[in-house]
Amino acid sequence: MRKKVTIVGAGNVGATSAHWIAAAELADVVLIDVVEGIPQGKGLDLLEAMPVEGSDSFIVGTNSYAETANSDIVVITAGIPRKPGMSRDDLLNTNYKIMQDVVGNVVKYSPNSIIIVVSNPLDAMAQAAYKLSGFSRNRVIGMAGVLDSARFCTFIAQELNVSVENVTAFVLGGHGDTMVPLPRYSTVAGIPITELIEKSRLEAIVQRTRDGGAEIVKYLKTGSAYYAPSAAATEMVEAILKDKKKILPCAAYLQGEYGINGLYVGVPVKLGAKGIEQIIEIKLTPEEKAGLDKSAAAVKELVGVIGV
Ligand SMILES: NC(=O)c1ccc[n+]([C@@H]2O[C@H](COP(=O)([O-])OP(=O)(O)OC[C@H]3O[C@@H](n4cnc5c(N)ncnc54)[C@H](O)[C@@H]3O)[C@@H](O)[C@H]2O)c1
Repeated sequence: MRKKVTIVGAGNVGATSAHWIAAAELADVVLIDVVEGIPQGKGLDLLEAMPVEGSDSFIVGTNSYAETANSDIVVITAGIPRKPGMSRDDLLNTNYKIMQDVVGNVVKYSPNSIIIVVSNPLDAMAQAAYKLSGFSRNRVIGMAGVLDSARFCTFIAQELNVSVENVTAFVLGGHGDTMVPLPRYSTVAGIPITELIEKSRLEAIVQRTRDGGAEIVKYLKTGSAYYAPSAAATEMVEAILKDKKKILPCAAYLQGEYGINGLYVGVPVKLGAKGIEQIIEIKLTPEEKAGLDKSAAAVKELVGVIGV
């Protein structure tokens, strides 16, 4: 039997995730949203693309959680963007309410699933999903680091005019402002980028990576990035479904690792059939550790607002 992946939220990130997953024939996909017609329409449209793609993945759109029953993985992309006049805390509280509705249904219909959270603010929503679900921490994972490191890779490959396949980039910490790129662990064909790119250029690339989301929003004006975010979520789905034991930077619930306790923070993890199979602790310089602590403090503030 094919694996089953539910994607909650049939917006830009959700529908595009369905596209990548189905095109790669990783699983059957259920696309669910509160808006009537949108998941059904997008689901059918995608299904009709499969003969061209040569994929037998079955895709269906729905408004009913009954159709999501017994999913192996649930990717949560539901949320609303910040609207004019809305404070950050208003957004946090609204998306937390959405998370309550969604996670309640995930637990009810897919009690053995692995949850990948994409909705923002990422680390806080991952923590909300973890607390609301009661799942063990290996089964609730936040997506941010894979996207941030993909952006870092893109810019490094451009800078050196080399294949993106030669580049391995590593980032830790929270999504966006509090991201902690690790240039000394980022390599091109095994060579640390610190030996290939001079310091000021590297700093500019790091800053562009930090602002990666904002750069896209500036172009799009309404809405935010979705091709790279959904490709990143798909890489996590694939690592789990194929039990690849792939080391990827993900938001994970730390219980003492890196000296952080009881918070979702972006760290390298091993993703396999059980979800997070290992949290990998690497030695950090005092500067890098300070960056990670700053990220953790930002998450702590947000989770304090919603009390999770
Ligand atoms: N973690 C990351 O790196 C990253 C990257 C990009 C986007 N995001 C976040 O992902 C989320 C989705 O982004 P998008 O561009 O797809 O937004 P979008 O507005 O296109 O889609 C969101 C969808 O969620 C649906 N929704 C709202 N409440 C729901 C509920 N209770 N149940 C089911 N569906 C519900 C909406 O109807 C909408 O279709 C946002 O929170 C965004 O900030 C995170």
